[in-house]
Amino acid sequence: MNANILVLFFALFSSPYTFQLASCYGNSDFCVANLLPPYTSSGYECKPPKDVTVDDFVFSGFVSGKAIDPFNIRLTVASVNNLPGLNGLDISAARVDVGVNGTIAMHFHPHASELFIMVQGQLKAGFVTPPDRVFVKDIKPGDVMVFPEGVVHFVVNSGDTVAVAFATYTTSNPSFHFLDHLLFANNLPTSIISQSTFLDSSQITKLKTLFGGSG
Ligand SMILES: *[C@@H]1O[C@H](CO)[C@@H](O)[C@H](O)[C@H]1NC(C)=O
Repeated sequence: MNANILVLFFALFSSPYTFQLASCYGNSDFCVANLLPPYTSSGYECKPPKDVTVDDFVFSGFVSGKAIDPFNIRLTVASVNNLPGLNGLDISAARVDVGVNGTIAMHFHPHASELFIMVQGQLKAGFVTPPDRVFVKDIKPGDVMVFPEGVVHFVVNSGDTVAVAFATYTTSNPSFHFLDHLLFANNLPTSIISQSTFLDSSQITKLKTLFGGSG
């Protein structure tokens, strides 16, 4: 090895950048969530490193999940709440099974983009943006669709079998804001909903019954 190469090596491996990289890969940079204290706006506290085990990095329930009615879907989310190793990593995943005629109804995820990976069946998926754009497509196994951060999006089963898809989110704790729930699952008075959405009161009453709202 000649002198020039030696100098180059020395410059590379002693640089502050290299030092930073090395410390990023050190164990102490994990912040596995301690799920006992509640989640706050700054996330979970870190578990003491000596208490971290491999099971903090594995979630074993990523199978057909909890039914969400009346959407006729089953949803399982692998988030920091059941996979504590995701804490601080800005990534999570979901599995959704969409029954025949089912829908992942209009919803959005604040601060998270979504990759939607088709595995089985046939779906129509799309999103809408202001003032009047519509992006909708039939998707099938082998297709991956992205829903950009914050957009209102939806999926409907357009086939005659159960459809299965996986999703990933750019957050470790995704929240699902379904428009139907925001509008019809609380006690916001029907008169206000009607005046602020231009929907008929009778339709609002019907949807409040379906989604558990009152008022
Ligand atoms: C799905 O919807 C179609 C059209 O409304 C209906 O004929 C069919 O019975 C429905 N299937 C299920 C399983 O709900």
